[in-house]
Amino acid sequence: MDSLGSLMDTLDIAFAEARRFLDSLETRPVASRGTPAEMLAPLPPHFPEHGIAANDVVRAIAAAAEPGLTGNAGGRFFAWVKGGALPAALATDIMCSAWDQNAVLASTSPAGSVLEELAGQFLLEALRLPAGASYAFVTGCQMAHTTALAAARHAVLARKGWDVEAKGLQGAPIIRVLANAHHHSSVTRALRLLGLGSECIVPLGEDRPGQVSADVLRAALAEAPDAPTIVILNAGDLNIGACDDFAALCPIAHAAGAWVHVDGAFGLWANASPRLASLVTGVALADSWATDGHKWLNTPYDCGMAITRDPEAHSAAMRMTAAYLTSGGDVRDPMDFTPEWSRRARALPALAALMELGRDGLAGMIERCCDHAVAIYDGIVRLPGATGIARPTMNQGLIRFDASDGANISDAVIESINAGGEAFLSGGSWDGERVMRISVCGWNTNTNDVARTVAAASEALSKLRAT
Ligand SMILES: Cc1ncc(COP(=O)(O)O)c(C=O)c1O
Repeated sequence: MDSLGSLMDTLDIAFAEARRFLDSLETRPVASRGTPAEMLAPLPPHFPEHGIAANDVVRAIAAAAEPGLTGNAGGRFFAWVKGGALPAALATDIMCSAWDQNAVLASTSPAGSVLEELAGQFLLEALRLPAGASYAFVTGCQMAHTTALAAARHAVLARKGWDVEAKGLQGAPIIRVLANAHHHSSVTRALRLLGLGSECIVPLGEDRPGQVSADVLRAALAEAPDAPTIVILNAGDLNIGACDDFAALCPIAHAAGAWVHVDGAFGLWANASPRLASLVTGVALADSWATDGHKWLNTPYDCGMAITRDPEAHSAAMRMTAAYLTSGGDVRDPMDFTPEWSRRARALPALAALMELGRDGLAGMIERCCDHAVAIYDGIVRLPGATGIARPTMNQGLIRFDASDGANISDAVIESINAGGEAFLSGGSWDGERVMRISVCGWNTNTNDVARTVAAASEALSKLRAT
């Protein structure tokens, strides 16, 4: 067989394995059940002395992964914040792997650059953000924060006459970072990576759960009116989906000369739904936004997006040149906006998802997830031993479980549901108490999945309360 023929054979095996996995999602346990030893059993224990035929390698890796696969691509995965992959997005991702494009420059992949520009335009239109904003498709919200906050760092120091790209932070004016006290740890890590350190954060207290108080922000800004300042707000915190009052807070921050960055990992997508957009009113007033495709747009991993109102600050923070690189001319070079050099064409699955959904489909999916989150919450909260902590206002809810003697058994209930295999949920802490989080952001969750999840919670809870 010629080498192209054998490549096709190998791809057929991979495709059949992928189909088998996707076909099994309805019936396989959502949690993986394999032990590390079971996963390693089909593989050589040491670097093989001689190569193994490609078909056998693919079969062995499929067999090794099978017992360790989590069913987050299916409809009953409600842990952390994970969406499945839409059909067109998954299929496009597979083509991207086959095309093996390096979407670093227009010259290395014209398709990667040109289609990324369209994906960026559609993204801004979908999220109703300013048309002239800059964007970067990065690995996830973690790198989206890092990228957008690098632009923020550039802008607030440039206003003080300091060129941070050339001089670094040694001797620079001290940057103040005022952040919603419920900020995600990826914000903290981004600040660490940018040399600002986790201790630079001044946590801003709330007047309503998860929402920064305008008075607290005003007072924090007044403490150092001349300092270069970045304010970090939330569009959807991961516990209760709380969103800051951007319409009130952005003008206050801007009046003090601060840059406003928004963690909208999933919650920014509320702006794509006419029904939910009021949760994030004024979000377009911010200076930068970080969000994820692999959460609520349902692209495959990995896909995050950094967006800024200030393309010059964004590219000043990221652009590098080298004698061997060629400029794209009229076509945008993605690496002028990303922290990576070589990179896969991850904007293409995002483009596919945006096209497959369209404006009405995207809004419909976001709203459906929110409705399912409420239905799961309402179904579980009426069970004996369940106490509602936060009914979803978006797609996140919290419930606490108690034993008959009043002991908090939330973690035990989560473990029991997950062990049963019908659904998968995760825990968290809220107001110092252990709780179960409900997070719905998959396109393929349906009412049957909701019913199966409520039934699984009922079974787990009655078993635990009986013991
Ligand atoms: C609110 C929030 N911000 C940031 C992140 C980090 O996103 P990523 O895992 O894509 O880097 C998450 C992840 O769950 C999140 O929920």
